[in-house]
Amino acid sequence: MNAIEVKNLNYSYDRENWAVKDISFVVEEGSYTTIIGHNGSGKSTIAKLLLGLLEKNSGSILVEGLELTTENLHEIRNKIGIVFQNPDNQFIGSTVRDDIAFGLENHCFPQDEMDEIIETYAQKVGMFDYLDNEPTKLSGGQKQRVAIASVLAMKHNILVFDEATSMLDPTGKKEINQLINELHKDKKLTVISITHDIEEVAQSDNVIVVDKGRIALTGTPLEVFKKEEALIKMQLDIPFVYKFRKALSQNGMKIAETLSMERMVEEICQFVSKK
Ligand SMILES: Nc1ncnc2c1ncn2[C@@H]1O[C@H](COP(=O)(O)OP(=O)(O)OP(=O)(O)O)[C@@H](O)[C@H]1O
Ligand SMILES: [Mg+2]
Repeated sequence: MNAIEVKNLNYSYDRENWAVKDISFVVEEGSYTTIIGHNGSGKSTIAKLLLGLLEKNSGSILVEGLELTTENLHEIRNKIGIVFQNPDNQFIGSTVRDDIAFGLENHCFPQDEMDEIIETYAQKVGMFDYLDNEPTKLSGGQKQRVAIASVLAMKHNILVFDEATSMLDPTGKKEINQLINELHKDKKLTVISITHDIEEVAQSDNVIVVDKGRIALTGTPLEVFKKEEALIKMQLDIPFVYKFRKALSQNGMKIAETLSMERMVEEICQFVSKK
């Protein structure tokens, strides 16, 4: 079964301009999909439509085979969770602990298991020592960590991250990405990550490139990065490994296509040893 099927989706905020225009895509269960596109291309709008936070003008959205409708909204939100770009809009509780608890209560988690779940996920995102702190007094990055813990604790099958680690320092970003990857692999979590981090895109299974509310490109990262000119036109970057391999090949070093640094180093070593 597909985790998500979107067909001919349209949405306009003002009834004049399309923020999302005739978008169709499929996300396979257990896959890691990244969505890229420059500012204002429609990425967050797509994420909000998937959660039923915005009501589509037309088209259809199926989440694990279930059509997203007003009647199914509660059931859909048990299946799919989201962490937003701006964590400030997401806090309700007076402490970090209350805040994580709020989501769990909404999803009817048993009261006696709650403390353990809250502490486990606060620990995983490095916020255990802040459980009794006021969320509004945390830094942007700390708020993002709490927002991520709150969503992970709910154990949805599908998670959407809308630039959810944009305020973290490079080490923090790496740690959280690693945690999400572990959950994705171990628990078969379906991940949709909206990101400007091209190195994260290189690690994903599939990429959706959005431009002016439409899908411009889709495919595996390698398939998408091959369309380098189109990406540059859309003001998007390509990963370091891809650029480096291209520079080597222009200088006569023909090595296999890869987006993994380890694999490229192996290829270079093999090439050099053959000489
Ligand atoms: N609440 C809103 N009201 C009116 N127009 C909006 C609203 N939110 C977004 N838009 C418009 O819809 C379009 C898509 O915006 P969206 O936020 O989905 O882009 P994005 O790809 O997430 O951008 P970014 O990378 O900056 O987060 C933009 O033209 C934007 O101006
Ligand atoms: Mg956005």
